[in-house]
Amino acid sequence: MNTIENVKIIEIPKVHDERGILAVIEKETIPFDIKRVYYLYDVPSDSFRGGHAHKEQQSIIIALSGSFEVIVDDGKTKKRIMLNKPNQGLYIPTHIWREIDNFSSGSVCLVLASTEYSEDEYIRDYEEFSLSVR
Ligand code: TYD
Repeated sequence: MNTIENVKIIEIPKVHDERGILAVIEKETIPFDIKRVYYLYDVPSDSFRGGHAHKEQQSIIIALSGSFEVIVDDGKTKKRIMLNKPNQGLYIPTHIWREIDNFSSGSVCLVLASTEYSEDEYIRDYEEFSLSVR
């Protein structure tokens, strides 16, 4: 089973010149094939998102704009990670509970996912999650 030791910041390679920064996500940059991309925007600052784990989906979360905090939890240990750099992705493997809060105004949260959307592979009940990782 995964632990929060398997949660990692991935540096996204960038090309920086006087015109600005271009960040590139290629196959080699991330540990899975992307099946889906979704993003959160217009998120009220007091909003809580996430509150689930995945049986199959691996994710990479990127603060494309602004900042927010991700709490990752493997059932034993919790860690709070601030994301505020568009060239950093937070890799979250399967069976890690995640919550997202403290959204700054105008923030955009991009998620790269390894699976298509399927409600069946979500664990949305913390008790169920906690039992599943024992
Ligand atoms: P939810 O999982 O609660 O979002 P978050 O984890 O960011 O808080 O999803 C919100 C709603 O959107 C829920 O009804 C499921 C739906 N949804 C899709 O239809 N497709 C998707 O790819 C995702 C991620 C969510």
